Amino acid sequence: MATPELVPGLAGIPAAESSISYIDGQKGLLAYRGYSIEELAEKSNFEEVSRLLVHGELPTPEEHERFSALLRENRGLSERMLDVIRALPGNGHPMDALQASMAALGMFSRARDYRDPAQRDEAIVRIIGAMPVLVAAFERFRSGEDFIPPDPSLDTAANFLWMLTGEKPDPLAARVLDVALILHADHTMNASTFTARVVGSTEADPFTVVASAVGSLTGPLHGGANERVLRDLETVSGVEEVPDFVEGRLATKGKLMGFGHRVYKVKDPRAVILQGLARELFEKLGRTPLYDVAVRLEEEVVSRLGHKGIHPNVDFYSGFVYSKLGIPVDDFTPIFAIARTSGWLAHWREQMQDNRIFRPGQVYSGEHGRSYVPIDQR
Ligand code: SDX
Repeated sequence: MATPELVPGLAGIPAAESSISYIDGQKGLLAYRGYSIEELAEKSNFEEVSRLLVHGELPTPEEHERFSALLRENRGLSERMLDVIRALPGNGHPMDALQASMAALGMFSRARDYRDPAQRDEAIVRIIGAMPVLVAAFERFRSGEDFIPPDPSLDTAANFLWMLTGEKPDPLAARVLDVALILHADHTMNASTFTARVVGSTEADPFTVVASAVGSLTGPLHGGANERVLRDLETVSGVEEVPDFVEGRLATKGKLMGFGHRVYKVKDPRAVILQGLARELFEKLGRTPLYDVAVRLEEEVVSRLGHKGIHPNVDFYSGFVYSKLGIPVDDFTPIFAIARTSGWLAHWREQMQDNRIFRPGQVYSGEHGRSYVPIDQR
């Protein structure tokens, strides 16, 4: 039982004042800068949403054009950066490669001082522009393929698919990925965003802030869940096996990946939209047999744990979208990171406008007043 002062995981404890995104966990609502996620998913695009998150307002046509052009101008990787990524072990996880290459990218950049508005804004577009390129470069190298340079005629989502395959993406595939990036772009004070704010509060540079947040997102309780969902589903032979699978996982006090949330106590609104996107892709590209298992799994888990507020979260259906787009399973979390970079940088910028270094307290439960005992007397 936690002592009165201690709140495990800081559950519900405000760590900052923010105007970037808002969640209503009981009603299943999410909004970025006051605009509902449903409306943004339907009417906006990832590059516009990224600028909205960072600067707070929907851009004018000129502002949107300028921001998109800056993102395209900032996709380039030097030969030395490509050598860094080539040198990473191909059997390593793409999230580890992303964390390492983001830190290295910062070493090559001069835009590191948040106090200089020009450097701050330069770092923001450099990091958002380069993230997809870092992910695609590692994917190509570990597959024994050559790097495919970014195509300036394509927006962020379409260019990412281009850099993975060297083929201009199907418009539906590009649009679906663009919406998935919108859905993952921000989510109030989640663990990786909190990490970004903590590291930023020490006045570390923005590349280090993002590399730290990538590390936090790697964990299977956070961003890494989307990869685990598909791997879990692959162990279930058919819908008739689902009850035993759930029973087995719960009997060992295990977690069902893609379910539950610290804030949402109903189905994550992003899961609702991602499920719809998955079905849209199935109509065009063919159904995935695992999808029926997933729908049955949702029914089974909600029937057993729904009373505890456990429902599908953003990670439960995202994997169906990404695998239908031909994206390798262990690249799912890097895609989450590509999207969330806009949120991390929006929070970093907000934190630095009125910064105080994070330094929480603790409840001490250790010993007091002990005297040293020489080792030959122990
Ligand atoms: C993301 O914070 C964000 O906003 C994150 C995110 C974002 O956009 O940034 O939304 C993205 O990280 C989504 C979550 C992805 N993670 C998973 O799908 C992993 C599985 N989920 C669980 O680990 C869990 O639900 C968490 C981590 C998401 C939330 O954990 P909490 O709030 O700390 O809840 P808890 O672990 O204290 O669980 C409360 C109870 C426990 O049962 P009791 O001990 O009270 O009997 O609910 C149970 C838990 O055992 N429970 C689950 C469960 N989640 C909670 N039981 C089985 N399977 C689960 N998934």
